[in-house]
Amino acid sequence: MPHLLITDDEPAVRESELYRNEEPTPGSNDCFAKILGESPAMQLLRAHVEKVALTQATVLLTGESGTGKELVAEALHLASARCTKPFVPVNCGAISPNLIESELFGHEKGSFTGADRRHKGYFEVAEGGTLFLDEVTEMSLDLQVRLLRVLETGRFMRVGKNDEIIADVRVVAATNRDPEEAVRSGALREDLFYRLNVFPLELPPLRMRNDDALLLARHFLDKLNTENHTHKAFASDALEAIQEHTWPGNVRELRNYVYRSYILADNEIKGDSSFFDLQSHATESGSQISVPVGTPLADANRQLILATLEQCEGVKKKTAETLGISLKTLYNRLEEYSAEDCDNTPS
Ligand SMILES: Nc1ncnc2c1ncn2[C@@H]1O[C@H](COP(=O)(O)OP(=O)(O)O)[C@@H](O)[C@H]1O
Ligand SMILES: [Mg+2]
Repeated sequence: MPHLLITDDEPAVRESELYRNEEPTPGSNDCFAKILGESPAMQLLRAHVEKVALTQATVLLTGESGTGKELVAEALHLASARCTKPFVPVNCGAISPNLIESELFGHEKGSFTGADRRHKGYFEVAEGGTLFLDEVTEMSLDLQVRLLRVLETGRFMRVGKNDEIIADVRVVAATNRDPEEAVRSGALREDLFYRLNVFPLELPPLRMRNDDALLLARHFLDKLNTENHTHKAFASDALEAIQEHTWPGNVRELRNYVYRSYILADNEIKGDSSFFDLQSHATESGSQISVPVGTPLADANRQLILATLEQCEGVKKKTAETLGISLKTLYNRLEEYSAEDCDNTPS
């Protein structure tokens, strides 16, 4: 009985209104528009997502980092009857353990030091919609007990109040660990695992998806070309290198690779396979930046320039040389950024 019925205990402004989409049609192909890939593994995945979306089943998404778990969770929400209500992604590993209970379930004013007003938790914010619990194995075991209880009873309590709130939330959880291994190692409670694993969906790694890496690389490059009115293209040895590479970071790594190559190439992107390694070297030295596709180029430039400046320990001449721009351009950019920062400083 995975369907949780939530009703609010007092009439408040429905935050879900804020998330209302234009005119979503549950199950329409548009829901999957962002999930690219024609490999049999991806076709099967889309078919399964489409079917399970129409139910209320709790879904557990597994798969390596960068395989598209969050993308699939959102598509599942959009393809469901809940599509007009909020989709609320929560990274359980990113919230401080002290705050996560109140972040999930909300709190009453005065329930702990610093709680100076009533706060809605994600379960309330997601009312009528879908709550995406990413990295669910990173939750403390205590909290896993509470989550299990909500999933089983369809009710939860705000911190500092004993009244139960009935919830109408569909939970989609994700982990990039092997969940059974997480149970064995004690990171994931077995009862919660079974409760989440009503409908498991495994996202295949990119290296198992036939030609999808090429398709995705072309897509990411097309998007950059369109946005920036350019006509850069992959050389044939680049396409071969893309197909050969094993993509340990999956689609995220591929997207970053295309983005970096695009920035550095004049017209043609060459098949320099040492370029793939750049990511791992950069990660080791902590100097990688990750910019999502769709980021305005000005923002991406800013991130890249500032990160390079930091790596060059503030030496502007070296920074300009590394970036292949003139010292004057670098000074102009830095001046713009500091002016923008002043504009954005809250008064
Ligand atoms: N099949 C796909 N088609 C297009 N983009 C994808 C696909 N899978 C992942 N991406 C993109 O790759 C990045 C990582 O995806 P994400 O869903 O955050 O992965 P995960 O949550 O598994 O780490 C995102 O920018 C996402 O939009
Ligand atoms: Mg993720």
